[in-house]
Amino acid sequence: MQKVRKAVIPVAGFGTRFLPASKATPKEMMPIVDKPIIQYIVEEAVASGIETIIFVTGRHKRAIEDHFDYAPDLEHTLEKSGKLDLLEVIKNVSNLANFIYVRQKEQLGLGHAILTAEHAVGNEPFAVLLGDELIINEENPGLKQLIDIYYKFGKSVIGTTEVPKEETSKYGIVDGKLIEDGLRLVNYMVEKPSPEEAPSNSAITGRYVLTPNIFEALKRTPFGKGGELQLTDALMILREKEVIYSKNIEGIRHDTGNKLGYIKAIVDFALEREDTKEFMKNLILEKAKALNEK
Ligand code: G1P
Repeated sequence: MQKVRKAVIPVAGFGTRFLPASKATPKEMMPIVDKPIIQYIVEEAVASGIETIIFVTGRHKRAIEDHFDYAPDLEHTLEKSGKLDLLEVIKNVSNLANFIYVRQKEQLGLGHAILTAEHAVGNEPFAVLLGDELIINEENPGLKQLIDIYYKFGKSVIGTTEVPKEETSKYGIVDGKLIEDGLRLVNYMVEKPSPEEAPSNSAITGRYVLTPNIFEALKRTPFGKGGELQLTDALMILREKEVIYSKNIEGIRHDTGNKLGYIKAIVDFALEREDTKEFMKNLILEKAKALNEK
């Protein structure tokens, strides 16, 4: 069986939910404490065995390329001033993986972004990670859980999570036959259905392992929800040809693609980190006390 070596990460979107912050800075570069969101995503991919990251990028996204490149001036300054810990930290970022950048000239949807990466992926299975969701699982990274299923069956695997019925219209929803704990053989998928139309509560969480046959399926997929080329629709076409699995991902999930989820992620991370947890805990207690007294 071919190894899953490459991961596609689409980053061309405007990030309108974070304006004005995202006007000149990619939303993917917004930090959770002191690390940009995109770095967490790349680290998850690398911890899952990925060697090459293919960013599907667009105009105004230069900062992402710079972040994963060497920074000779900065490295020199840190070395001269003896800040060797920081030097190590920033050097490690550029050495995480091989990076390829593909430009998506028009934003025609997630499916279109994946299709744009076809020539960089070639004829091999690959992963897709969406930057809006962070999945924290130190022992067993989110993407690795899907790759392990791929190595068992050799077919595409979609990462899912159970969501409340009223939230189905925010996600692709998957229905399928449960074959073991959290693992399903998919029989139907639909992009962002209303709660009444949703066939289940299993939401696609922004992690996929796909066989290269997805590219043919994408080329046959008509534009769908929101006038965009939807990956979910292409997966339904792929399913006519080969079986697809879905797997509930185990781990703590943070939806950083909206303001409230982003704020919560920062609080949660600050409560976990050694250098910030005492401060954060005291801050929350202090604020809670003040609010109670109001
Ligand atoms: C995309 C996918 C959707 C999935 C979601 C997860 O939607 O199209 O199926 O559930 O990511 O974050 P988006 O949030 O980009 O609109």
